[in-house]
Formats: sequence, C-alpha cells, structure tokens
Amino acid sequence: MTGQQLRPGLEGVTVAETRLSDIDGEAGELVIGGFPVETLATNATYEETVFLLLEDRLPSAAELDAFRADLASRRELCEETHAVLRRAAEDGEPAMDALRMGLAAATLDADTDEPSEAAKRVVAVIPTVVAAYWRYRSGEAPVAPDPELGHAENYLAMLTGDPPDDHAVRGLETYLNTVVDHGLNASTFTARTVVSTESDLVSAATAAAGALKGPLHGGAPGPVLEMLRTVHESGDPERYVREALDAGERLMGFGHRVYRVRDPRAEVLSTAAERFYAAAAETDFYDTVEQFETVALDLLADHKPDRRLATNVEFYTAALLHGVGVPRALFTATFAVARSGGWMAHGLEQLADNRLVRPVGRYVGTRDRSWTPVEQR
Ligand code: ACO
Repeated sequence: MTGQQLRPGLEGVTVAETRLSDIDGEAGELVIGGFPVETLATNATYEETVFLLLEDRLPSAAELDAFRADLASRRELCEETHAVLRRAAEDGEPAMDALRMGLAAATLDADTDEPSEAAKRVVAVIPTVVAAYWRYRSGEAPVAPDPELGHAENYLAMLTGDPPDDHAVRGLETYLNTVVDHGLNASTFTARTVVSTESDLVSAATAAAGALKGPLHGGAPGPVLEMLRTVHESGDPERYVREALDAGERLMGFGHRVYRVRDPRAEVLSTAAERFYAAAAETDFYDTVEQFETVALDLLADHKPDRRLATNVEFYTAALLHGVGVPRALFTATFAVARSGGWMAHGLEQLADNRLVRPVGRYVGTRDRSWTPVEQR
C-alpha cells in the first residue's frame, strides 16, 4: 500500500478509547482512574487501585477486604514454577527473564481461562515470582507469601525474609500506585495488541513484560542509582554532570517523550522518598539526591536551552526503591509488579470492545526482481 502518512513509533496516533489513565504532557498532569496521581498514590492501597482500574469505582470496605483476600489466595507458586526460577537464578538470568518464565509457568496450577480470573492471578503472582527468584539468586530459601499481609507489605517480606517497617511499606505502596498505569506506553500497548487477537491475558502479560524489559522503557532506574551512589561518594554532583554532558552522554532520569515539564510522578515520588529517608534517619543520601537534581537541572538548561529537560519518574524511583530495600537488580521487575495492574485492566478493556490491532507498513522494497534458480546464483 502507498500514500498513507508515515507515523514511526505510532507517535501521536490515537488507537483506543480508555477510561484508565490520561496524560497531559504540557501541563504535567496524570489522571489514573479519575483521580489525579497525587491523590491516588498517597491515599490508596495497591489493591484499592487495582480494584478501581478493574471495576471503574472505589470498593466499599467489605469489597476491599474480599478483593484483598481473593488476590492473596492466588499468590502461591507450584513446585514446577519454583524449579524454573531456581534454574533461572542458578544460570544468572536477569530478573525480567526470570519473571517472564515464572509467570508463564504460573498458569500450570491456576485456572486462567476466564479473563478476569487470569487478570487477578497475574497481578497476585508476579511479586511471588520475583521474590522467589531473588531468594534463589541470593542463595536463600524462598519466603512463602503470607495471606494476612497486603500486596506491598507481602512483597517486601518475601524479598527480605523480615517484616518490613511501616515507612517502607507506605513508600513501596506509593510507588506501585504511581506507576500502575500510564496511557498506551509500549508494554501496555503490547498487552492490548496480544488481547486484540483474542489470545489470553497471561500471554498478554508475558509479552508486556518482554516490552518493559528494554532500556528505553523500564530499564532506566538502575543506572540512575549508580549515578547517585557515585555522586554520594564523591560529593561533587557538578563535576559528574559536566563530565557526562561533555562526553555526550544523556543524564539518566531526565527528559521525557511526552512531558515537557516535571513528570508529575517524579513529584509524587520525591515527596514519598523525602518522607521515607527522614523517617529512616538517612537524610544524608536524600540530600545528595536533591542536590544532584538542582545541579543537573541548571546544567541541562545551559546544555539544551531550546529544550526543557525536566526530572522524570525514574530519577525518584531509584531513590525510593533503593531506600525501601528493593535491590537494584529488581528495579525493572518491581516496575512490572506495579504495571501488571494496568496491563490487566487494559487487557479487559480491549476485550470488552475489541478491534484487531493491525497497522500497515509502507513498503520500500523493490518490486521487479526476477527469479534465479538456486543452482544458478
Ligand atoms: N540528558 C542529556 N541530553 C538529553 C537528555 C538527557 N537526559 N534527554 C534528551 N536530551 C537531548 C538529546 O540528546 C537531544 O539532543 P540533540 O537534539 O542535540 O540530539 C535532545 O535533548 C532531544 O532528545 P530526544 O531523544 O529527541 O528526546 P525524546 O523526548 O525523544 O527522549 C528520553 C526522551 C528517551 C526519555 C530522553 O530524554 C532520555 O534518553 N533520557 C535519559 C534516559 C531516561 O531517563 N529514561 C527514562 C524515561 S522515563 C520512562 O520511560 C518511564
């Protein structure tokens, strides 16, 4: 086909109606399930947020209790899934590969034929998959999920083997809510594309995890933490930023394809991180984070005066996840723990009003080759 307007990366193309989230990149606003991200992130439990996305309303207290118990009852892994994760850990597979394998295996002992059942299983089981992989990788026995604990608290308890303190739980919960959904980002669009073929929601989640793994999507907070640690040791953010920009490098945690002002999620997470570090009496590290941001924004403004490069979500994700005790190797997998709620809500939304996703490519190959039999080539 010829003649269509080319839109590489589908940039600016509207392909679906959604009630799940909306981004205003110029104003720096994000609405999730009808609430400004600032309201949802700081007030909701993760279970409440997922209920909101799935049902399009907040649960009553009784509904929330039931939903929480329902999710908690779907957290266990079968022995075969443990074997997959043990092997992935022994072979040194990255966390996102282990997550994809473990999630696929986690359908062995769960009935996921019905889409809404599959959605709940995916959201409930991903933290167990990630934590079990991590325990094997650390040479420790996995910690069984505790159905009495909420989603965020249980994840931290399974990772560390110790009961987490309330500040860490609240910090993680704020993170999970903040990044649960963000329009038709690459992994969410991947999930919708898979569902649009009338495939199943677990397949959609494993495909979405594959998309999230890439460094242009979910892979930035690890390098941000390295940068912050280096500067915390040297005490000289200005030198670090100057050297990076002079070397033509991009400063991780700054700039965004959609936002032209400070990413509203950075705002929410900076407040959460500040509160967490103050409560943990580790203001030293947080001082470095703030100082780094101020210096970086100044120097970036000089470096690219015609393009406003502001702080993005990954900058404070690194600070917050590090603070609450999530290992750096699990940053992207923890993003998946959060985003799985969005993936599943989008999958169900797509299914409810489905149209097969099928864009077209513009053919730029030749049309007039003549065939030469193989023995004459
Ligand atoms: N540091 C230094 N320069 C930058 C940065 C940065 N962080 N971001 C953009 N620029 C520069 C580019 O080099 C480019 O300069 P040029 O015109 O001289 O080539 C100019 O600004 C425009 O860059 P684009 O790539 O067109 O900007 P885009 O909006 O497409 O990129 C992106 C967005 C990929 C996030 C970019 O800002 C970046 O690489 N940031 C660092 C990595 C990062 O933090 N990623 C996480 C993003 S948040 C998320 O995905 C959840």
